[in-house]
Amino acid sequence: MQHHPARLRRSVLYAPASNEKALLKSTSLACDVVIYDLEDAVGPEEKLAARERLRDFLNGGDRPRCEIVVRINALSSIWGTEDFLAARAMRPDAILLPKVDRPRDILDVDAMLDETDAPRSLKLWAMIETPRGVLNLGPIAELGRDPAARLSCLVAGTNDLAKETGIELTADRRYLSPFLFQLVMAARAGGLSVLDGVSNDFRDLEAFEASCLEARSMGFDGKTLIHPAQIGPANAVFAPSSEAIAEAEAIVTAFADPKNAGRGVISLNGRMVERLHLEMAQTLLARADAIRDKDNRETAP
Ligand code: COA
Ligand code: MG
Repeated sequence: MQHHPARLRRSVLYAPASNEKALLKSTSLACDVVIYDLEDAVGPEEKLAARERLRDFLNGGDRPRCEIVVRINALSSIWGTEDFLAARAMRPDAILLPKVDRPRDILDVDAMLDETDAPRSLKLWAMIETPRGVLNLGPIAELGRDPAARLSCLVAGTNDLAKETGIELTADRRYLSPFLFQLVMAARAGGLSVLDGVSNDFRDLEAFEASCLEARSMGFDGKTLIHPAQIGPANAVFAPSSEAIAEAEAIVTAFADPKNAGRGVISLNGRMVERLHLEMAQTLLARADAIRDKDNRETAP
């Protein structure tokens, strides 16, 4: 199963619902997704006001044109149920569930959405940020293969994972990487999108770019972000390069040559190219098209 090839989730910005300026700013940013946060970015004293502010903001006219996700507090918390009902009414593209430990955490919300006749287009995203979540990755990701389940994306919560495990967050992420690899593998097994955790040091854009390059090499679709300055670098790193586009076009052209019709493997510029490379090339070109369409929409008057 292949994840949705052209769904762009390169830059996924958290905007705290408690921060009025961040909410207003979110409508004019070039990120692929905004996650409006009611959870960790909002202090206990601010929770109720933040929910109201977000409700007013999203129900007002000025919603961003990108994909919209709302992160709610855990259903087991005192805010969870009200957050869920409010988020459901905000008509986001997805609701992000924090601290998912096991499939049941997702299935329960799935059932609640069905009970409230939520549209099938409303998806669920899951934060993987607890030791149980990591250990249960296989069964959690398996939900992605169930057409009746709404799970569509897994998100690494690296700060919480460090807190819960004692794993040290070093610049090279050497102690964290094994778990990130597991996350990517599970997501792909379930046909899900998968996003890397945040880089806390938002002023160091050089280190941030290196972190995006690493995440891309690990197989992530994109990176979660905490600051608008991180959007440009993430969009650039997770977009196919012009060399990669040229190579993909050459592969498509080669397989379209009648003399290669029906062949499983061909030789191109001294390299073996198989039909699986053709599929990869087509996926990459679809992504490049989606990026071009998005850029055109954003520059349109
Ligand atoms: N989303 C939207 N806008 C944001 C933003 C975000 N995540 N972070 C900052 N901005 C806005 C600011 O409001 C400011 O707007 P202005 O130009 O209208 O004044 C502008 O971008 C520049 O912000 P800056 O002054 O550089 O940062 P800051 O000191 O105000 O905020 C943080 C720094 C880290 C507190 C803030 O970026 C933040 O809260 N990020 C999200 C944290 C989060 O969601 N954590 C939970 C998930 S890990
Ligand atoms: Mg968290």
